[in-house]
Amino acid sequence: MKREIIKTLDGSTTIHLEEWNESYHSKHGAIQEAKHVFIKNGLSLFNNKPVSLLEIGFGTGLNAFITFLESQQNQQSIDYVGVEAYPVSAEEVLAMNYVDELEASEFYNIFEKMHKCEWDNKVEICDQFSLTKRKQFFDEIDDIEKFDLIYFDAFGYRVQPELWSTEIFQKMYNSLKPNGVLVTYAARGVVKRSMISVGFTVEKLAGPPGKREMFRATKKV
Ligand SMILES: C[S@@+](CC[C@H](N)C(=O)[O-])C[C@H]1O[C@@H](n2cnc3c(N)ncnc32)[C@H](O)[C@@H]1O
Repeated sequence: MKREIIKTLDGSTTIHLEEWNESYHSKHGAIQEAKHVFIKNGLSLFNNKPVSLLEIGFGTGLNAFITFLESQQNQQSIDYVGVEAYPVSAEEVLAMNYVDELEASEFYNIFEKMHKCEWDNKVEICDQFSLTKRKQFFDEIDDIEKFDLIYFDAFGYRVQPELWSTEIFQKMYNSLKPNGVLVTYAARGVVKRSMISVGFTVEKLAGPPGKREMFRATKKV
């Protein structure tokens, strides 16, 4: 599939898949979306307590890097697991401008380490942040009550409806600890119904710039 690096409206880059007319992040702003959906409506719920986190779709590492920056600022311990079946190439990683756009040049080595570190091994990125990149398909996930928070960042329902199914959300539900939370940029009725059918309590929240709504699903017990 043809891949192209494009700039989103907040100046940050993303990868665009022409054949699907789908991008790794919102065209309205990759960084803005990540901060709104995953940090403001997800990570910040944990009040700087230690968090065990699962990301569905590690991709360019933007969510992981922003989460690392938050953990630095708030002295928060994060155990981050990013699942990805199709790692982004080194060339594409180099073309992403996240370190500059986030004014985080002092942490360039961290962004690099996140990409260069080996797969399927837990790596201490720094004192408070460990990263395990799992090269795995989403339907192979079988963790039980392991995570406090899930960043559900698969490609959209329009292009990969099978990833928004009850089977996948059942796996997400099983992998969360009691009262664990899943956040996603999506806000389709069919997605909400799948989440509810496996036991999630779903809230509709204001979306990031350019998107009206998004979902947060909680494993209430
Ligand atoms: C929207 S992108 C993730 C963007 C990423 N969170 C970031 O910050 O760059 C979705 C990701 O899911 C991956 N993917 C697609 N289908 C998958 C599957 N069945 N299993 C595992 N990964 C998959 C893609 O390769 C892509 O990296």
